[in-house]
Amino acid sequence: MGPSRIAKTGLVAATAWLILQLPAAALPLGELARAAQRAGIDVGVAVDTNLNAARQAIAASEFTSTTVENRLKWGSLSPAQGVYDFSGADALVDQAEQNGQRIRGHTLFWDRLNGMPGWLEADVAGATDPVAHLTQLMQTHAATVVGRYAGRLAQWDVVNEPLAQLLPTMDPESLFFQTLGESYLDVAFHAAHAADPTAQLFLNETLTEVPTRFDALLQIAQGMLDRAAPLHGIGLQGHFLLGPPDRTQLQSQLEAVAAMGLAVELTEVDISLNHFLGDPDPLAAQARAYADVFGACVAVTACTGVTVWGVDDGDTWLDTFALTAAGAPHRPLLFDAQGLPKPAYHAAVAALPEPSLGALLLLGGAALRRASAQGRARAESDRQRS
Ligand code: XIL
Repeated sequence: MGPSRIAKTGLVAATAWLILQLPAAALPLGELARAAQRAGIDVGVAVDTNLNAARQAIAASEFTSTTVENRLKWGSLSPAQGVYDFSGADALVDQAEQNGQRIRGHTLFWDRLNGMPGWLEADVAGATDPVAHLTQLMQTHAATVVGRYAGRLAQWDVVNEPLAQLLPTMDPESLFFQTLGESYLDVAFHAAHAADPTAQLFLNETLTEVPTRFDALLQIAQGMLDRAAPLHGIGLQGHFLLGPPDRTQLQSQLEAVAAMGLAVELTEVDISLNHFLGDPDPLAAQARAYADVFGACVAVTACTGVTVWGVDDGDTWLDTFALTAAGAPHRPLLFDAQGLPKPAYHAAVAALPEPSLGALLLLGGAALRRASAQGRARAESDRQRS
């Protein structure tokens, strides 16, 4: 690159950076979303159709990305075989688009909780050729759902939780694994890719804080890449059920994914306050844990987003989840039950630094382009609303 080109790139980057310093007038964004844009990552929130107006307002203004928490799960979409009800998912996707947000599709294939339709297991068991039948059902499901939103959902968690809950092996209880073996992953990803070649396709997993599980996940991912399956990213859920995040471990995990040439995101973060009850200031300790998560992500270029699993502490799945519901409320999110920002919120903002001009140049403008695209989408949605 010649000196004049460097100067020109620098000038463009500097101008864009200056513009990004002035979003408040043009964009009615909260501090967190603005910090996310400046840092060049997405900060997302999982939403369902039951959000009240106050929560919807927070979801719209404080986050640059939306994950559809439940309404895109097969079990939710297809109450009976051959029947699809897209009303909830459509409403959430429309809303996120109006907010100018990036959207994560969650999740195509997940054999736990509300991931599976009630009719599927018996249907596969009754088939004369279960392998062919399940393959066909998966392909049709991916084509129907991913195809419906093609070009609108930036990312899909194509397969969720392929590992056994606690062991570092493929989940032997999964209907997909039992029927098709590990190749179900390839079936899923190829079908999703065919339905929307522009979507980034993720393998999403929980409890990756357990090193053997993280290693097993990467081994599975590497196998898929070796077989040329269209896998683009790894999602680390980040529920941190066993204890607070370990910043060093997390960052080296993000780097390990990056080294495979894949994108990586924290896709479902919540950090129970109960981990810190022995601390003199539990809310401050929780805030430090959130700073660790956001800080680890921004330190690794391949980490493109952090999503929290719910808007506020009054509406967290952890308080109703069988394994974790006992005891004090978890209060695991960035806003309290009144919708007020917690110390964790301010810590997240502070952990999203304004990139230096030098860092912007090194990034080759990728983060900038992403940030200004978000800005344009926001401005457009503001224009349409006004
Ligand atoms: C949870 C939802 O938050 C709940 O509302 C629902 O009842 C069960 O599923 N890991 C996942 C998410 O990948 O899909 C789960 O979401 C939480 C655990």
